[in-house]
Amino acid sequence: MTITPTLSYLTSSIFFILSIRFLASPKSARQGNILGTIGMLLAIITTLSIHPASNIVAIIGTLALGACIGIYSGLKVKMTSLPQMIAIFNGLGGLSAVCIALAETISKSTSYLDNSLGLIIGAIAFSGSIIAFAKLQGIISAKAISSKLILFLQLSLSIATLFLCIIYILNGNPNIFYIMGIICIILGVLMVIPIGGADMPVVISLLNSYSGWACVGIGFSLQNPLLIIVGSIVGASGAILSYIMIKAMNRSLTNVLFGGIEKSSNSKSTISPQQTAQSGSPEDAAFIMENANKIIIVPGYGMAAAQAQHALKAMADELHNHYGVEVKYAIHPVAGRMPGHMNVLLAEANVPYDDVFELEDINREFATADVAYIIGANDITNPLAKTDSSSPIYGMPILDVEKAKTVFFVKRSLGHGYSGIENPLFFAPNTIMLYGDAKKVTEDIVKILEST
Ligand code: TAP
Repeated sequence: MTITPTLSYLTSSIFFILSIRFLASPKSARQGNILGTIGMLLAIITTLSIHPASNIVAIIGTLALGACIGIYSGLKVKMTSLPQMIAIFNGLGGLSAVCIALAETISKSTSYLDNSLGLIIGAIAFSGSIIAFAKLQGIISAKAISSKLILFLQLSLSIATLFLCIIYILNGNPNIFYIMGIICIILGVLMVIPIGGADMPVVISLLNSYSGWACVGIGFSLQNPLLIIVGSIVGASGAILSYIMIKAMNRSLTNVLFGGIEKSSNSKSTISPQQTAQSGSPEDAAFIMENANKIIIVPGYGMAAAQAQHALKAMADELHNHYGVEVKYAIHPVAGRMPGHMNVLLAEANVPYDDVFELEDINREFATADVAYIIGANDITNPLAKTDSSSPIYGMPILDVEKAKTVFFVKRSLGHGYSGIENPLFFAPNTIMLYGDAKKVTEDIVKILEST
């Protein structure tokens, strides 16, 4: 029996779909990774077998180089830099689509519409991702820019692209195709330049979606079912993820794409200079926590930055095993800087999945908790989201940590979170600030708990 390439590509697609299914839970994520790898291996072997190339050495060499870069970055890139890495990968996806579209045009392909889609979306995804990377990496300013000129240029270039695309489909002139590619590269830059701040992860996920749709265009152009199926999965999942983030942050797509994040100065709530926050020591925290019945831990971006997850697990184990305290973890949907950021870190530290709860499942329990231990989190606990309609986070569901008897905030200062606004909870009578690096403070608490 001979296996046709189409059947083989369909089998790869099934592996990819199963891979995503398994990646949906931290428990099965490793199997998901393996399934995805098998699917990709099968796809590469199938492609090489259909097009036995004379330049096989160059192809294998390039594959090996790519694999080495992938393995190196997978091992070396820090959790907090994952958005940048995804931005680069999206950019490479977009660039591949552009290269294939160009190659097809040079080889006089007549799939004008499919090629144009691959080129337009691929070029925007490519240059947009490079700008997103530069912003996240601090190479260029990450600030949101609200400018009518940029809006005007975006609109003009979008109309020009549409116009050129119609002409190209009608006459197939490659020069029109090349001009369209250049315009879309500029358009990608202009689309991401105005976006900044907490909206960047949404942009990364949107660019991810674009790279998927570019892949679909190229799939039609090459009549390759694998590219069409996988491109659709990436395109649709990126779009769904963007929607989930936008909803969780109580923002709108137009606001993210065209508004720039509203300035924190719009917020009417300011902290009066007379207000002071009480601070405590790791000894105070250890004493209160070892005498508690129930503690809810709320991790945020600062835990990831400090890599405090292992110390946190040690603290929770010590409290549970030696002092009989019930310890739970509360995860906000946009805690950290990417979806699932906290879940991944806690899983890395072997925190039992059954102790980790989503916002809607645990929010009511803060009222019965003795302690809320907020480690490197800020915006996701800010009550202004409920009370101040002028605040940029107004309407975002937040964790009701203030209902716990004692609230510990582990952070280095009274500084802002990502949205750049004050958190009045630092000054609440039941709040105690534990100033310092999240890992160091938690390790100090563990030492004290172990010695008492
Ligand atoms: P943030 O509100 O950004 O607060 C993090 C806090 O961590 C900061 O206030 C900082 O205070 C502290 N911190 C930083 N490094 C630390 C360290 N080494 N040790 C101890 N503390 C440290 O984080 P959050 O509460 O997780 O909220 C996430 C924010 O990101 C939200 O505004 C959300 O909308 C936005 N966002 C998230 C996502 C996803 S999908 N997760 C997507 C888009 C936007 P100090 O400087 O005082 O230490």
